[in-house]
Amino acid sequence: MIIRGFQEQYFYLCFFIFLFLFPNEVLATCRFPEFLQRDEPWAADYGEGRFVAYVKNTYMQINQLKGGNDSNYARRCIEETKGNKYLVTHEEKLQPTKYMCMEFLQRSKNIVQLKVSRPSDRRSIELCDESGMGLDHWPIVQMAQSPEERIVCPFVGGYNINMYFPNETMVCRDTMLLLRMESECESGEGITFDFRDEKCIPANLPREVKQRAYCIAHWTEGIHTFIVLQHSKVHKHIWCLRISDALGDIRTAHLFLNLVCDPNEHLTDALHYFHFRMSRVIYSTICADELDGCSIIQQYCSTGFKRHCSKTCGACEYESELGLCTFPEHLRGHWVESSRKQSRDVTVKDYSLGVERLGMFECIEIESEKYSDKRILLELFDNGCYPRYACVDLEKIAPSVMIYRLGNRIDWPLPNNNNDKEYLCKRDKFKDPDANFYAKERPPKILINTDVYHPVKCGLPAKYHHGVSFIEEGKMCGGCLHYSPFSDSDKIYIQPVNCSVDPYPLEYNCLASFDFGNKTHAVVTRTKTPSDYGQYLCWVFTIDNKIKVIKSADCYVFEDEFADPEGLEAQFSIMDVPDDSPNNLCRNLVFAPRTTSARQASNGTTAPPKVRYTIIEPKEPNAQIDTEARPVYDNRNSVSNVQFSGLTLTFVLTCLNFINIMVK
Ligand SMILES: *[C@@H]1O[C@H](CO)[C@@H](O)[C@H](O)[C@H]1NC(C)=O
Ligand SMILES: *[C@@H]1O[C@H](CO)[C@@H](O)[C@H](O)[C@H]1NC(C)=O
Ligand SMILES: *[C@@H]1O[C@H](CO)[C@@H](O)[C@H](O)[C@H]1NC(C)=O
Ligand SMILES: *[C@@H]1O[C@H](CO)[C@@H](O)[C@H](O)[C@H]1NC(C)=O
Ligand SMILES: *[C@@H]1O[C@H](CO)[C@@H](O)[C@H](O)[C@H]1NC(C)=O
Repeated sequence: MIIRGFQEQYFYLCFFIFLFLFPNEVLATCRFPEFLQRDEPWAADYGEGRFVAYVKNTYMQINQLKGGNDSNYARRCIEETKGNKYLVTHEEKLQPTKYMCMEFLQRSKNIVQLKVSRPSDRRSIELCDESGMGLDHWPIVQMAQSPEERIVCPFVGGYNINMYFPNETMVCRDTMLLLRMESECESGEGITFDFRDEKCIPANLPREVKQRAYCIAHWTEGIHTFIVLQHSKVHKHIWCLRISDALGDIRTAHLFLNLVCDPNEHLTDALHYFHFRMSRVIYSTICADELDGCSIIQQYCSTGFKRHCSKTCGACEYESELGLCTFPEHLRGHWVESSRKQSRDVTVKDYSLGVERLGMFECIEIESEKYSDKRILLELFDNGCYPRYACVDLEKIAPSVMIYRLGNRIDWPLPNNNNDKEYLCKRDKFKDPDANFYAKERPPKILINTDVYHPVKCGLPAKYHHGVSFIEEGKMCGGCLHYSPFSDSDKIYIQPVNCSVDPYPLEYNCLASFDFGNKTHAVVTRTKTPSDYGQYLCWVFTIDNKIKVIKSADCYVFEDEFADPEGLEAQFSIMDVPDDSPNNLCRNLVFAPRTTSARQASNGTTAPPKVRYTIIEPKEPNAQIDTEARPVYDNRNSVSNVQFSGLTLTFVLTCLNFINIMVK
């Protein structure tokens, strides 16, 4: 009773403090939806004007500049109705308070469309009747909208476009090549516009013939699909693409170069938009004309225009004439590219290479004396996207490991070259497309074969043999890294000390071992026991006594000692401590196998053990291991010939761990 009384008192005290501090919030039962409650304001950009709204709990402060009129007003939520509508007051200086209804349609995390009723002098829930509500065509966005909120665009394929001004005159009517729009030819790449000629680029946009935009929201309203696009480079350019057809076969579309998603059939010229008439042409071979008129304008065959009429000009070979190239037997199979951002499968077959979420490429035979170790890949599409080329370099560095470098994907048609392979495999094709002249090539990726695991010697330099203590940077956690080149040359063990993970040694099997330059050594491993860092890792042992742990595919990024530490899974600093120091985390660690009988003793099921190894820590430092024990390895005592079953101690430890888990 006493306790209860105290709790009640406490509750009322809190309640009154709360009331005192936040009168509105507590008394009003209505609060604007959580997704609107953000630190940054919401805004719509009318081109010549704006709408800015600050939302806080039950209150919304709005500044609106429209048609030359600047107005400030507030809206206060007074009642939330069924169907997520909000009856609000409209409060403006020197004006009587009015009532209206608002609805907030969340189009994405950062984009919201408003639906509002007319203002009324009378408070009535009828204001929220659907028939009296109208959609605001100017969605509001979070000011902090960043390109990280990208989504995959809702349609895939390539289209040729006739583009018209609002007065229905054609944009760039005298260019021979039609504008192009390609969407998601490679998943996640967004929409690319090819304006073909600088004079066809809409005003205010960068003067680049090819421009890209990412999709950041899409929805269907009535007969239209609206897609909100954000320019890849100039993030303040946010557009709305309106499509009235099925997304698999688009004929017409409207592109608003402001964030206005207007469903009206007759649009006012004041809106800055273009009307598209679109057609899909499928290019199923690289030997094709890009436009119908090629045969009429054959004189262009002697100009740079030839590439667009390569069939008519007789300037191309079909893939069948070129022939397919083969991947050698030892490269074929299933591989995994495991990087920090994502993991994806790579399949190498006799004549093709498939990369998950990127595409299926054929290897085509294009010869050149240079780059004999590289191959040309070609992907053909049946959705209107133009064919794409790339240069690839595959090199096996261990039985289950290869390194792989994929050049930038290059759109068909290629410029006229003496040698296409040399053009496609040039160094700059292995740099990011916007990189400057001095930028480095992208580092290769490591692929791990998932068909067969073939461990190799880890080959760590002598200073890492027989146990090194380390601490994990930024954490109160450390451990002992144990490697024995004699008994277990293809394994590394890590014994965590003071860490939140289970106190068992972790076992890593080496799949490749190589040097980065002078004194930096790298090892690629497969994690035997499940661990936080992932299944395929790369360990870089640097000159300055650090151990960097990275997802396997990203390994070569850390060949560069200044690589972004964001890419690390963990970084350990090796502690320089004498063997017998109490700070030596390897002291007294013994790595012994956990036996089958010990596992069964725990509860008699056949569930596989979580780990296979356990540590035996003698009570006194330097104590001899019980002669009944047969440890697999002890870093300081040479006891490998002592006889023992290993059962007793392991059993006790397993029990202790079990009790420990139960208690938790
Ligand atoms: C701007 O304000 C004036 C005077 O209040 C009004 O007559 C006019 O219609 C307003 N314009 C717009 C576009 O709201
Ligand atoms: C149509 O609009 C464009 C762009 O505003 C303009 O350049 C062009 O002269 C207009 N054409 C006609 C026939 O009005
Ligand atoms: C282990 O944790 C304790 C406190 O949590 C800390 O004082 C000690 O330095 C840690 N030891 C290592 C090796 O990180
Ligand atoms: C190796 O290290 C030495 C001395 O630090 C340096 O002079 C040499 O350039 C390095 N070699 C390579 C290949 O990095
Ligand atoms: C044995 O232990 C496992 C894991 O702790 C548990 O899932 C299982 O139910 C246990 N079996 C028996 C028979 O207690």
